[in-house]
Amino acid sequence: MPLWHLAVSALITIDNSSALISLLADFRKQNPDAKIGFVPTMGALHQGHISLITRAKKENQLVVCSIFVNPTQFNDPKDLERYPRTAEADAAMLSDNGCDIVYFPAVDDIYPNGLNEPFDMDFGGIDNVMEGAHRPGHFKGVAQVVDRFFRIVRPDRAYFGQKDFQQVAVIRQLVKEKKHAVEIIACPTLRSTQGLALSSRNMLLSEEEKENSLIIYKTLLSGQNWIKDNSDITELTEKLTVFFKKGNLHLEYLELANPENLQPVKNKNQPVHCFIAAFCGKVRLIDNMRLN
Ligand code: PAF
Repeated sequence: MPLWHLAVSALITIDNSSALISLLADFRKQNPDAKIGFVPTMGALHQGHISLITRAKKENQLVVCSIFVNPTQFNDPKDLERYPRTAEADAAMLSDNGCDIVYFPAVDDIYPNGLNEPFDMDFGGIDNVMEGAHRPGHFKGVAQVVDRFFRIVRPDRAYFGQKDFQQVAVIRQLVKEKKHAVEIIACPTLRSTQGLALSSRNMLLSEEEKENSLIIYKTLLSGQNWIKDNSDITELTEKLTVFFKKGNLHLEYLELANPENLQPVKNKNQPVHCFIAAFCGKVRLIDNMRLN
């Protein structure tokens, strides 16, 4: 184990980019062959995030996690306000799970020129469907903040959960567009024992609402079963929508799309992936699953 690593066996907390840049430069100088793994988060950490930290820990010599509730990716100010913040518990979880550095920036450290700083990127159309269509500006905000993080941390590998499937596609496009030298690693969605996809937003749900939200998982599983006997994708989409609406959630969209380009699928000779976004009360939940 490199000497530098022994010296940082406790979690280091950093709240400004200049300090982080110089710490990482020092690390790289002393450990030229070492790899840096990065897990960007908005905090309110759960086992899904920890699975990313654990994987990053296995594959890299140093693991950096960022915790930043990014205002530019919230198209609804109330959603930003409600977003759970659990800084102390997050730091304890990261420390217990072997994370080396947590970067906890303030808004002006990430956006020194203000929140309206321009950010341009060609999203190649993936920002026009599903999450992109229903949350205008969301992916621009995500790409903007992740671009900033990649410039600060310059990780060798960055880890994202597949629950945010479309976000992973946006990040891959960002890497291509801005020529970041980072490998993007998409990790499987973790679920509760009953099947609810783990999400920071689940903290905002009552036990009854968590139970009601299982309709998302049940619909995805039904999709996997029903696609075997349904060759008509429009019919299958309708059947799944009717099934979903028997539950207590408010459906925003249910779409069957090709996971490679996120465009709607016409037949099941292509890969078919089901994407769902729905509100349980005021809490917006998303999930997805490959059907065939
Ligand atoms: O997935 C998230 O938590 C956020 O969208 C991310 C990638 C940390 C950017 O703010």
